[in-house]
Amino acid sequence: MARDLTHATSALKTHQLETRGVTTPQLFDADPQRFSKFHVAIDGLLFDYSKQRVTAETMSLLHGLARAAKLDERRAALFSGAKINITEDRAVLHMALRNVSGRPMAADGTDAMPGVIEVRERMGAFADGVRGGAITAANGERFTDIVNIGIGGSDLGPAMAARALSPYVAPHLSLHYVSNVDGADIGDTLKGLALETTLFIVCSKTFTTLETMTNARTARAAVAARLGEAAVADHFCAVSTQLDKIAEFGIREDRVFGFWDWVGGRYSIWSAIGLSVEIGIGRAPWEQFLAGGEDIDEHFTTAPVEKNIPALMALVEIWNHDFLDLATQAVIPYDQRLARFPAYLQQLEMESNGKSVSLDGGPVEMKTAPVIFGEPGTNGQHAFFQMLHQGTEPVPIDFLVAAKPTDADQHHHDLLVANCFAQGEALMRGRSLAEVDAQLRKQGADAAAIERIGPHKVFSGNRPTSTILYESLTPRMLGRLIALYEHKVFTQGVIWNIDSFDQWGVELGKELAGRLVPIVSDRNASTAQLDSSTAGLIDAMRRLAG
Ligand code: F6P
Repeated sequence: MARDLTHATSALKTHQLETRGVTTPQLFDADPQRFSKFHVAIDGLLFDYSKQRVTAETMSLLHGLARAAKLDERRAALFSGAKINITEDRAVLHMALRNVSGRPMAADGTDAMPGVIEVRERMGAFADGVRGGAITAANGERFTDIVNIGIGGSDLGPAMAARALSPYVAPHLSLHYVSNVDGADIGDTLKGLALETTLFIVCSKTFTTLETMTNARTARAAVAARLGEAAVADHFCAVSTQLDKIAEFGIREDRVFGFWDWVGGRYSIWSAIGLSVEIGIGRAPWEQFLAGGEDIDEHFTTAPVEKNIPALMALVEIWNHDFLDLATQAVIPYDQRLARFPAYLQQLEMESNGKSVSLDGGPVEMKTAPVIFGEPGTNGQHAFFQMLHQGTEPVPIDFLVAAKPTDADQHHHDLLVANCFAQGEALMRGRSLAEVDAQLRKQGADAAAIERIGPHKVFSGNRPTSTILYESLTPRMLGRLIALYEHKVFTQGVIWNIDSFDQWGVELGKELAGRLVPIVSDRNASTAQLDSSTAGLIDAMRRLAG
C-alpha cells in the first residue's frame, strides 16, 4: 500500500506557521457556534474538541492526512483479519471477541467465531457457576474472593474494568488484582484473604511471564500449605494462549480458558482475560460490555472521517504532538471509578505506538506516541493542575465525565461536573493581566501589590482540551470508551506507519534482568563484567542489605 504523506504534512506545517498566533479564545469569539461545528455525538456519548487549537481548515488538512495515510484501506485490512502485525506475523482481531451480533470474522482466512463463541459460552457458564455458588471451593462453600494474577494486559484491563464497574459486582464477591513481582503485592493481598473461599485466576498470554509465574507459584504454595495439595484443583483456573504450559502448572482442563495469538496482550480485556470481571458483574452485563466495544467497531468502520470519533481523537492528538510540538497527553476522568483508566491507556498507547521504526524498516518520519499520564478529577486539580494551567509547556488533556452518576449522590455529581467543565473553560479562556488587575483592585489591593502579585495570577489560556461526555458508566459505556481509545491508537499507528501490535521494546530489560538475577541472589557472585554503575549499585545493595 504505497503512501506519500509529504504533501499532507507540509500543508499542515505551513498551516501551523500561518495560524500560530491564533488562540482558542479568539476562535470562540469569532464563531459563537464553534461547539456545534467541533463536536460529534453518537448514541449516549459526545466528543467535544472545540477547545482544541483547530480551525475548519486544520481539520480538513488532518482529514487529508488520514486519507493520504490510506486509513480506509488499513482499517479494512485490520477487520479482514490480515496479518497486519508484520513483525510477529499475526492478525489483529480482538474485535472478534466483542462481535456479539454474530458477523462472520476470520483471522488469516480462518473463521474465528466458532472458537470465540465456544470460549465465551464456557466463560459465561463458569462465571455463573462461581457467582451463583454451583461451583464451590474445596470445602463446598461459595467463593468470596477472586484473585487475578497477571501483569500488563493480563492485569490492567480487568483491574481497571473491575473498578469501573464496581457497582455491578455481586456484593458477596471481592475482586483482587496481583501483578508486581514485589512480594509485597501478593503478600499483602493474601494476608487479608480467607484462602478457604478464594479462587485464583492465573492470566498470562504466554504463560512464561516472570512476575505472573512467580506470584502464581507463591499463591499455589499458600493454598497447598493451608488447604492441602488436593484443594489446588478447586482453587485455581488459568487463561492463556499456551495451553500446554498450563497443564505443566497442574490446572485442571475444565478450568482453563484459551485465547488466540491474534489478541494482543493490551487488547485482551475482551477475551477470557476478563474472566474475573465477568464473575464479578455476571454474564449479561459482561455481554453488554462486549456489545459496547462492538458499537464502536460499527461506528469506526462506517462513519466518515469527519464524524468518526476515534479518527478525530487520533488526528487532534497528532496535530498537538507532531505539529504543535506538545510532547504529553493527559487523560483526566472526572469519574472516580475510572481511576485506573489512565494507567490502562498508558499501556494501550505507549506500548502500541512508542516506536521509532516504520513498517518498512526505516526510521519513522513523524514523532510517535506522546507521554500519557493522568489521575481522576477533581483530585488532580489539587495536585498537578498548577502546571497544566501555568507551566511553560501546554499539556493537551482529554476530560471524561458522565452526565449522570451510576449510583452516587446527585449533589456530589453536580459539583464534579461543574469542576470538569470549569477546568476546560479556564484552560481555554485563561485570565489576562488586565483582568487580574481589575480583580485585585476590586479586592482593595494597592498599586504596588498589584504590580508584585499580578503577573503570578495570569493564566495564558489557549491550552487544548477535549471532553468525552457520556450518559453514565455502565458496562456498555465502558466497552465503548475502551474501544474508542483502541481505534484512536490504531489510527495513529496508521499515520505514523508503525506496527502498533508488537512490543519488542520490553525485551532487552527482561533479558538483562534474567542475567542479573543470579548475581543479585548470590552475594558472592562477581560483578566484574558489569558496567560500573550497575556493579556499584549491586555492591552498595549488598552492603545496605547487610
Ligand atoms: O512485557 C510486556 C508484555 O508482554 C505485555 O505486552 C503483556 O500485556 C504483558 O507483558 C503480560 O504478558 P503475558 O500475558 O504473556 O503474561
